[in-house]
Amino acid sequence: MSDMQLAAWTHNVVRSSIQDMLVMTARPDIISFALGLPSPALFPTSDIAEALSTTLATQANALQYGPPTSSLKRQIVDLMRHRGVRCREEQIFLTTGAQQGMNLLARLLVNPGDPVLVEHMTYSGFQQAVAPCAPRLVAVPTDLETGMDVDAVERMLQEGLCPACCYTVPAGHNPCGVSMGMAQRAKLVALARKYQFPIIEDDVYGFLAYENTDLPPLRSLEEDWVLYMGSFSKILAPGLRVGWMVVPESLIPYLAITKEASDIDTATLAQRSVETYLAQGKLLPHIARLCDAYRERRDAMLAVLHNHMPADARWSVPTNGMFIWVELPAGYDTELVLKRAIDQEGIFFLPGKAFAVVESADARRCMRLNFSNCSLEQITEGIVRLGRVVVDSKSEEICSTRRI
Ligand SMILES: Cc1ncc(COP(=O)(O)O)c(C=O)c1O
Repeated sequence: MSDMQLAAWTHNVVRSSIQDMLVMTARPDIISFALGLPSPALFPTSDIAEALSTTLATQANALQYGPPTSSLKRQIVDLMRHRGVRCREEQIFLTTGAQQGMNLLARLLVNPGDPVLVEHMTYSGFQQAVAPCAPRLVAVPTDLETGMDVDAVERMLQEGLCPACCYTVPAGHNPCGVSMGMAQRAKLVALARKYQFPIIEDDVYGFLAYENTDLPPLRSLEEDWVLYMGSFSKILAPGLRVGWMVVPESLIPYLAITKEASDIDTATLAQRSVETYLAQGKLLPHIARLCDAYRERRDAMLAVLHNHMPADARWSVPTNGMFIWVELPAGYDTELVLKRAIDQEGIFFLPGKAFAVVESADARRCMRLNFSNCSLEQITEGIVRLGRVVVDSKSEEICSTRRI
């Protein structure tokens, strides 16, 4: 490395051994439960191909730079109605995936040193997005049945905390696989109103719903203080890189300037092809098919976990999304379990440490398992093998006795 001086925030960046190991997930002999990938077998490839070619054939400007298309925004207003959210076209801001949405919002909301409310286990993409703003992350626990500990949030606010924003994934939490309970939702938005802080609601898994829980998005409970992020990545295809936000109209000019500096436009061809696809009325039936397939995979994984994990392990039972969060008994170190799972059984998952805002023994004994990307056969075979590693590790050195 040369003597080039990088910005101060880069000094805290640690190279992750997990990133190095992830290269291995491409090996054909590995069964990977690591990433939040949709199932490639379920991509509606021919419908997307048709939408692309129709778009190219009928829209002269589809390959030009182009402003956000109003017709796609109108389609999204309709789609949001199916999530129970009422909004207007003027409140929709198109993004290059939800990941860009959180980058833009972080830049608009967070000054260096500002407290940002998150959970002990937080989507690593949000941690990365906010890191250049040099925030002070303030974390509360997540309950595996009811989600974010909103009482802990209230206590912090009563003690004087003034967060620049609060980030959460209320439906199908990544990584914990839980959906926030109704009482917690109502209380969190009431707190945002009372203490006047914005909530970034990451709802990329909201449409992937496996039970009729009728839990409303936070945005449907509060319009001014909830900044909603949605995405076509998990419900159509992540390669399109099209997402959206629903925000108060007053924020749109600031977002537009920040986005222009970031990537000028969301890819015109992708935007317009998504719009063509939506106009054909194909998305909702496709989402219904995805939910059926992912529900089956979730149930298969839960059943094998039940039979092959230690009796004192616990895990979330997700109503939404793509992940099951497993808490092994005290003393386990899932980074060490992962090394052995790869070497001995060809299994990959992400250890809790990858999401921990602050390292702890509790984070070290957890792992996140994705159930959307593998076939039913791979899920059954893979969890049996993983269970073997976990059980074998129990009485050995891998079951660390370190304390921090
Ligand atoms: C919680 C969460 N938010 C956002 C994203 C990124 O979504 P997008 O592909 O729309 O940028 C992911 C991707 O895994 C995610 O899990």
